[in-house]
Amino acid sequence: MHLLRRNRRLRSSEALRSLVREHWITPNDFIVPVFVVEGTQVKDEIASMPGYYRYSLDVLKQEVRELWSMGLKAVLIFAKAEDHLKDNKGTEALNPDGLMQRAVKTIKDTVPDMLVMTDVALDPYSSYGHDGIITNGQVDNDQSVAVLAEMALTHAVAGADFVAPSDMMDGRIKAIRDTLEEANFKDTGIMSYSAKYASSFYGPFRDALDSAPGAGNESPKDKKTYQMDFGNTNEAIEETLVDIEEGADMVMVKPGLCYLDIVKSISEVVTVPIAVYQVSGEYAMVKAAAEKGWLDHDAVLLEQLTAIKRAGASLIASYFAKDAIRLIT
Ligand code: PBG
Repeated sequence: MHLLRRNRRLRSSEALRSLVREHWITPNDFIVPVFVVEGTQVKDEIASMPGYYRYSLDVLKQEVRELWSMGLKAVLIFAKAEDHLKDNKGTEALNPDGLMQRAVKTIKDTVPDMLVMTDVALDPYSSYGHDGIITNGQVDNDQSVAVLAEMALTHAVAGADFVAPSDMMDGRIKAIRDTLEEANFKDTGIMSYSAKYASSFYGPFRDALDSAPGAGNESPKDKKTYQMDFGNTNEAIEETLVDIEEGADMVMVKPGLCYLDIVKSISEVVTVPIAVYQVSGEYAMVKAAAEKGWLDHDAVLLEQLTAIKRAGASLIASYFAKDAIRLIT
């Protein structure tokens, strides 16, 4: 054959493949989710997330030192509120000395340069497991937004660099930005969960924080009135553009793998950094298949993370961050 083009030529050795590779992951790409609990000397494995733990704040210090030493420079904190602190209004979420606020300070005291991001939503604090306040059996948008903005401010006061509202209420980015500006936290950033879908891939996360929605019969059993319908694309673009208009510094698509078309579409219309959250269920699937010997754990996680970058993500929140860094460095 006399072929003019032989595309296999550029694949003929690893040296050449790596020379022409278009997308890859580095330690700079990652945000590491961390789960914190009360207590001392707690390192508690999450049943549906093998190899992932909830840490008490004393143990958390060692963990963040290790992350920093690996080149991982950003964490996203989730606090597991104790049952007796949960109510409908998320009162504990505003406690300036709450677990979340102390976790922020602990990390900043331990590794001052670590970028600290915090989850802003009421679900871990809500007796109903919802991201907002329930009024007459529904998630009340405007009441919820008022509390979420106050919650974000307590995180900023504690020292958070970025707040990450994951609640999907309308108008929350503007309310948070206004509240931060008024309190003179002009440099505190907002990473908005802009296109967050009502996904069944969040199951293991809800185990980790004991935060499943719909406790009792007085609140919806799912989050479909605020998180997005997985049949939609345009709505994701609309949500993202509104969040940017309202002051989001970065936006997010969540979950990851099933939504890479959404990442791509959004990356074609926005210029702010796009984060992708590879969520708990995505982690659990790989772990479970690998445990059974059905998939090659390391190869699959590198392939998935690279695919997320290729789709247009500039940042990835992933439970695989440490695994990935060990494999590539
Ligand atoms: C809470 C929140 C959730 C996740 C991040 N923030 C759960 C939910 O919305 O029910 C999911 C993360 C994961 O599954 O890894 N608002």
